[in-house]
Amino acid sequence: MKIAFVGKGGSGKTTLSSLFIRHLAFRDTPVVAVDADINQHLGAALGLDDQETAALPALGAHLPLIKEHLRGTNPRIASAETMIKTTPPGEGSRLLRLQEDNPIYDACAREVALEGARIRLLATGPFTESDLGVACYHSKTGAVELLLNHLVDGREESMVVDMTAGSDSFASGMFTRFDMTFLVAEPTRKGVSVYRQYKEYARDYDVPLKVVGNKVQGEDDLDFLRQEVGEDLLVAVGHSDWVRAMEKGRPRPFAELEESNSRALHALFQAVDAVYETRDWERYTRQMVHFHLRNAESWGNAKTGADLAAQVDPSFVLGEQRRETVVPQSAQSTPQPA
Ligand SMILES: Nc1ncnc2c1ncn2[C@@H]1O[C@H](COP(=O)(O)OP(=O)(O)OP(=O)(O)O)[C@@H](O)[C@H]1O
Ligand SMILES: [Mg+2]
Repeated sequence: MKIAFVGKGGSGKTTLSSLFIRHLAFRDTPVVAVDADINQHLGAALGLDDQETAALPALGAHLPLIKEHLRGTNPRIASAETMIKTTPPGEGSRLLRLQEDNPIYDACAREVALEGARIRLLATGPFTESDLGVACYHSKTGAVELLLNHLVDGREESMVVDMTAGSDSFASGMFTRFDMTFLVAEPTRKGVSVYRQYKEYARDYDVPLKVVGNKVQGEDDLDFLRQEVGEDLLVAVGHSDWVRAMEKGRPRPFAELEESNSRALHALFQAVDAVYETRDWERYTRQMVHFHLRNAESWGNAKTGADLAAQVDPSFVLGEQRRETVVPQSAQSTPQPA
C-alpha cells in the first residue's frame, strides 16, 4: 500500500509518518520508508544519529541507475536519458516489489532496525524551493515518482512517503500515486489551508484523502477541525510527551506511546487497509499516462528532444499479479534466423 503524509511546514508530517512507520514495524508489516520532504528529517525521527543521517544515499543522485534499471528491455524507451519522471512502465520494463533485493535498494536504501523489525529507508536528498518548480527536469522527487509508477505492492506491505504538498507534486501527478494520503493539519486556519488546496486538486482524480489533526488540545480544537474539514477528519492526535522525550534525545520504548495516540495510529492503519479492495490498477495506469503526456508536452519533449508520447505502451496495465517481461541479456543477443 502506498501512503503519503502531506501538510503545511511544521504541521507534524515527519513526526506522524515516523510514528506510523513504527506502528507498521511493530506489527511486522514490511515497510519501505521514503523521505521526500524539503527538510530531510525522517531518518532522525526513526532514530538515526547525525552521522547516519548524513550518510544516507540520495535518490536524486542515483537517477541514471534508477532509470536504467526500470527501463529494463522496454523497446519504447530508447535510453535512460529520454526517461523523465513521469515515463510510465510498459512491456519489458522492470517492476519493483517492496520485499525484494534489487540494484536500486542496494544503491539507495538503508536498513533500519525498528521496533523489533528491519525496514528500508530511502531519501531524496535535501532540496530547495527552486527544486519545486513545475517544469523541473532535475526534480528531487522525480526518483520517487518513478519508483511509485513501477511499484507493484500488495496488501500487507507498505511504502510510506513523508512529502511536501508542493506545486511539483500536483503538476507531475505525484499526488495521485497513493492509496491513501494523510493530510496532517493543526487546528489553525493556515493548517487547514493546505487541505483546501489538496482537496481541490484531488477532486478530479478520486484521490483518497483523510485529515489527521495534530497538536489538538481540546474540544475547541476538535470542533474547529470538524467544522473546517467535515467528514474528511479521520482522527486527532494530541500533544505527545513520548514524541517530546524523543526530541530531547531520551527515547522511550514504543509500547509506552500514549494510549490515545496508539489508537490513532491504528485508525490510520485501518483506513489504509480499508481502501485495498477498491484499488483500481487500470485507473492508476491511466492517470500516470495522463500526467506523462501533459509533462511531455509542456517541457519533456523539448528537454529530451524526443517524442515522449511514444513511450506509452497502450496495452500495458500495471498490477499486483504482473509478471516481469524483461528479456534476459543472453536472449537479446541470440542471433535470429534469417
Ligand atoms: N503530536 C505531537 N506532540 C509533540 N510534539 C509534536 C507533535 N507533532 C509534532 N511535534 C513537534 O513539532 C515539530 C514539527 O514537527 P515535524 O517536524 O514532524 O513537522 P513537519 O511537518 O515534518 O515539518 P517540516 O515541514 O519542517 O518538515 C517537531 O519538533 C515535532 O517534534
Ligand atoms: Mg518534516
